[in-house]
Amino acid sequence: MTIATQAPPMRYPRLAQPWIALFLAVLAELGIAFFVLNVVAVPLIAVWVGIPMLLVFVPATRWFANCHRTMLAGFTGEPIPRPYKKPPMPGILKWLRTTLTDPATWRDIVWLIVNATIGFTLCLLSAVLFLATLFYLVYPLLVGVTPEGVFTEPFGGLFTVNFWTSFLMVPVALIAFMIWQAAGERLLKANAFMARSLLGPTESAKLALRVRELAESRAETVDTQAAELRRIERDLHDGAQARLAALSMNLGMAEEMVNRDPAQAAALLTEARESASTALSELRDLVRGIHPPVLADRGLEGAVKALALSCPFKVDVTIDIPGRPAAPVESAAYFAVAEALANAVKYSAATNAWIQITHEQEKLHILVGDDGIGGAVIRPGGGLYGIERRLAAFDGTLTVVSPSAGPTTVIMELPCESSSLKTTPSSGTD
Ligand SMILES: Nc1ncnc2c1ncn2[C@@H]1O[C@H](COP(=O)(O)OP(=O)(O)OP(=O)(O)O)[C@@H](O)[C@H]1O
Ligand SMILES: [Mg+2]
Repeated sequence: MTIATQAPPMRYPRLAQPWIALFLAVLAELGIAFFVLNVVAVPLIAVWVGIPMLLVFVPATRWFANCHRTMLAGFTGEPIPRPYKKPPMPGILKWLRTTLTDPATWRDIVWLIVNATIGFTLCLLSAVLFLATLFYLVYPLLVGVTPEGVFTEPFGGLFTVNFWTSFLMVPVALIAFMIWQAAGERLLKANAFMARSLLGPTESAKLALRVRELAESRAETVDTQAAELRRIERDLHDGAQARLAALSMNLGMAEEMVNRDPAQAAALLTEARESASTALSELRDLVRGIHPPVLADRGLEGAVKALALSCPFKVDVTIDIPGRPAAPVESAAYFAVAEALANAVKYSAATNAWIQITHEQEKLHILVGDDGIGGAVIRPGGGLYGIERRLAAFDGTLTVVSPSAGPTTVIMELPCESSSLKTTPSSGTD
């Protein structure tokens, strides 16, 4: 099974499209009302009346545009991101200033009028082609006859036909159908692309959004690293450091007693040896938490297989990566799998689990699934949340699909360029 992300398929079935087109055409004309209200409200700011008007109309227009973004994404196969400046500054006047200086507000208004003209025409044409097909197909059935034997044509008579000649309209239906087949969806797509160019973010808005995302992920990475350092410091302070202090004390006391009371000195030395070995094992655990030796020695594949073997149930492992990812990526992938698997052991009551790791489209695709009870959630402070943040530092994502009756699937994607994959096994913790 591949987990590659592809452009989402068309959401709407072919036969639903004419009705959606009709609906969009009606909405396009409704949009004129939003256009007029906004255009009237802006100059009225000078006499203050415009302010309450805009406080209502701008959010209403954004809501209207957002509904279209969602609907039209189905035709282009890609979501149309919301380009608005976020977050609006607190305070009504500041909010108004942010909103009115946001180019997206004005592009929405331009879209309203373009949609009411070009968009309306494209949608209506797409709908009319299909409706014409239906109309001319049933046309012969609509031709009636009065008790006097006079033929009456549908809708007052578009053409002068009688019952038999009305069948001549059937080829017209077929021609309309063929045109609709060839052009109906394209017309809707053209409308969606037109809307996308006005409703989607501009290149500079995309860059601003990206900068904001990077700033957020950098802040989170710094936080995570600081928290990790504090954890290591605490572990060393409460663990190895305390044991070594006890060890040093015991050795000092044993040194004093060795001549006076050799038996007591021997007991203290035994205690010191125990402290030393506990400190050593705590230090080993700590090192394993920072960079597991198995990962350094055997790479992601070996380390994940070792994780799978330590599970109390059967875990199928499929790994297909053409080399070793860079150490930080490998480490993030390993800890992500370890957390998902640890959760499966702790909560899922599963009898089977599976791990798939592939490399496609310059990304590591990692899937960890179990056939357990489901109900996994990402909640702040939890391990899954931590992994999500950790992957975000690499521009990676984590998605949990876990309905209440199971199964649970944790899907993770981690950017990893093919050129960064090492074909020779790396050694040590480079
Ligand atoms: N595979 C799973 N099957 C069923 N429930 C799960 C599964 N994974 C997670 N959960 C549920 O989702 C919750 C969140 O998991 P998460 O790993 O984020 O936190 P945690 O395991 O409770 O804490 P931590 O990871 O810090 O020990 C868990 O408390 C558990 O109820
Ligand atoms: Mg957990």
